[in-house]
Amino acid sequence: MPSRTNLPTDWHFARPDLARHYLNAFEIGLVSGITLYARRRHGKTEFLTQDLQPAALAQGYAVGYCNLWQEDEDPAQALAEAVRALAMPKTVRAKLMARLNTPVAKFKLSGKAAGVGEGGAEVEFKDANAVGPRQLRDLFTQFDQSKNRGLLLVDEAQVLAQPAHAPLEKALRALLDTRKDRLKVIFTGSSEDQLRAMFGAERKAFYNWASVEPMPLLGEAFVRDLTDRANRLTTLSLKPAHSLAAFRELNGVPELFRRFLAQYLANPFEGAAAAVAQCKRSIYAEGGFDKRMRDLLPADRYVLALVAAGQGDLHSGDTLKKMGRALGLRGAASRAVPQNALRRLRDRQILLAVGNGVYEFEDEAFKQWVLEQRERLAQSNSLHK
Ligand SMILES: Nc1ncnc2c1ncn2[C@@H]1O[C@H](COP(=O)(O)OP(=O)(O)OP(=O)(O)O)[C@@H](O)[C@H]1O
Ligand SMILES: [Mg+2]
Repeated sequence: MPSRTNLPTDWHFARPDLARHYLNAFEIGLVSGITLYARRRHGKTEFLTQDLQPAALAQGYAVGYCNLWQEDEDPAQALAEAVRALAMPKTVRAKLMARLNTPVAKFKLSGKAAGVGEGGAEVEFKDANAVGPRQLRDLFTQFDQSKNRGLLLVDEAQVLAQPAHAPLEKALRALLDTRKDRLKVIFTGSSEDQLRAMFGAERKAFYNWASVEPMPLLGEAFVRDLTDRANRLTTLSLKPAHSLAAFRELNGVPELFRRFLAQYLANPFEGAAAAVAQCKRSIYAEGGFDKRMRDLLPADRYVLALVAAGQGDLHSGDTLKKMGRALGLRGAASRAVPQNALRRLRDRQILLAVGNGVYEFEDEAFKQWVLEQRERLAQSNSLHK
């Protein structure tokens, strides 16, 4: 029988060493900005909000978190709220820490949520779209006056690299530059190449401002730990070998593994393989992949399927010939066809360039979906022959 005490209510796998690692890099003055990338659903946001944030608060930092990629919010507004939180007085931070230490699912740490108003350091934004360089500057001044040491967490930072946000990118860079000793920054995003463009291109505001590194991935320790927690809730234990196999089958994506566990716990008698299959189905249904695919141009769909299938050279004579045929062109497609398709797919944050003309999907689940569609199509073609 599973013990009824210590039942897991919290599924977060803590990464204190990793959090400490980055904070140490700041402490010893090695760097003041770090950029971390990892693909979609790999735990970036959870690491920022549930590991780094509490660890930094415990070390006396005021922390501001923002996600720049939110449909309902302008990035300047999101950023402003995070900077506002950096001016949070110590007393309010203590309350916040107490709240973070109670295992609640997740909540947003913004100026508003954290009650900065109580400390009086408040700037009202009457119009959500009205955050301009001046307001941002005022908020940074409030941070200066607070005498806090600050850690700014900017999630989905690649949004700043979009041409439309160039003024904000420039303003932010200038505001951060003069505060490097008291304000540290961690940027994250899923698109390595967009982040590299943002921090590695000479013409960009943030050129050479922060090192760009991969965020270490969750692996076997995560799988074993969560499997143990799940097994405390069921009499039909999941063997670690089975959950490790499920994790591999789900391409090592933490979010999918969490769903797999939930699925398994709901129907343990059906076994691990059934839970994997059900988990994939639920992701596909929610991902809106069908619509995402339909919204693409035919050439983009074709190129996407080739990338999913691991086809290396998208510009070979043979590929261009097949592409031309599939797209109903007179002859072979020109090299511009895959080139433009790849550019559009990168702009839409569907594909990532991982170097040397090799491309990968940002979202592993989408890739799996594309592959399965391909297989299904091939099967139905062979049935109809
Ligand atoms: N440390 C962790 N412990 C337990 N589960 C985790 C952990 N990290 C991530 N997960 C699971 O993976 C899911 C996705 O994580 P998260 O949202 O942090 O990913 P992300 O990399 O920010 O993704 P995106 O690029 O889509 O924003 C979480 O909702 C959770 O189910
Ligand atoms: Mg995220």
